[in-house]
Amino acid sequence: MERVSAASSEVLVGRGLPTPVLPPRPGRRRVAILTQPGPTPRALEVAALARAEEVECEVIGLPDRDEAKTLEVAASVYEAMARFGVARGDTVVGVGGGSVTDLAGFVAGTWLRGVEAVHFPTTLLGAVDAAIGGKTGVNLAGKNLVGVIWHPTRVAIDIDLLEQLPVPLLREGMAEALKAGLVGDPELCQVLMESGLEAPLDEVVLRSVRVKAGIVDADDRERGIRAYLNFGHTIGHAVEYASSLSHGESVAVGMVAACEISSRILGFGRGDLVRSALATLDLPTHVDGLDAARVRDLLRHDKKRDEHGLRMVLLEDLGAPTIRSVGTEEIEMGLAAVGLSAG
Ligand code: GLY
Repeated sequence: MERVSAASSEVLVGRGLPTPVLPPRPGRRRVAILTQPGPTPRALEVAALARAEEVECEVIGLPDRDEAKTLEVAASVYEAMARFGVARGDTVVGVGGGSVTDLAGFVAGTWLRGVEAVHFPTTLLGAVDAAIGGKTGVNLAGKNLVGVIWHPTRVAIDIDLLEQLPVPLLREGMAEALKAGLVGDPELCQVLMESGLEAPLDEVVLRSVRVKAGIVDADDRERGIRAYLNFGHTIGHAVEYASSLSHGESVAVGMVAACEISSRILGFGRGDLVRSALATLDLPTHVDGLDAARVRDLLRHDKKRDEHGLRMVLLEDLGAPTIRSVGTEEIEMGLAAVGLSAG
């Protein structure tokens, strides 16, 4: 297994589950395993291995997807953990996609003012982004409005499991992997452009994890460069809210728009490469039939505005991100490049 450190987490990238399955701790230990409804075979496998390591386990099923990320669900998990007797030296484990690990991390970071979290991401998006870096949260009036930064002690990524994912879930994760390449690893962009969805997942995951780990190590609270990880997400989020596109598809469109703006403001000259990498990954580079006025409205009310415009992550070159305030005229050029012209 390859081991990458990200702030206070160890990220293990390999095939199969690690041995021991949980980071060792002295004494008696209880573990609450949070997972998608089912429970998933992977959660049962983690529980069986942990029990063989003399750990007491309770598997707690969560609602599917973002339905898991509410204060009500968190409260029901706290109650289940109280009944099971999860104490200070115990552990909350998240086995699933980004919503499971976001909720598991939130519960771990707040239960008894913080107990150990360990994550087993089961989606590519979780493995390259959501499970790493300690961001946790639940949705309230907006996405992730309540949360803590709580670094898991371990994130264990099983490439064998990821290789069995259906194509739509692979594409989702590949969008974030390409983002990692664009902000921190030009060679990863090349791999994705040449091989698309056939790109070797061990290399894609390891390279993406290294980019994110390096950024999170330097700035885990997002006071500065962690914002680079939001490349493509400003316009991407607006597209996601205004359309039925998935997160990965919306970020793909957002990255094309951000590349166009980067070329207008900073002379970025690799927009074609980004478009062709996205096409190879079967991700969209423009949107059809979308309510462009709604996208503009969402961008007008984006929190990241200052007196000069909208603060966005742009690229000077592959692997060379920067943050700039972008005025309306350039935003319009970015929107036009993805089929969202005014009128
Ligand atoms: N997904 C962006 C970040 O973790 O900062």
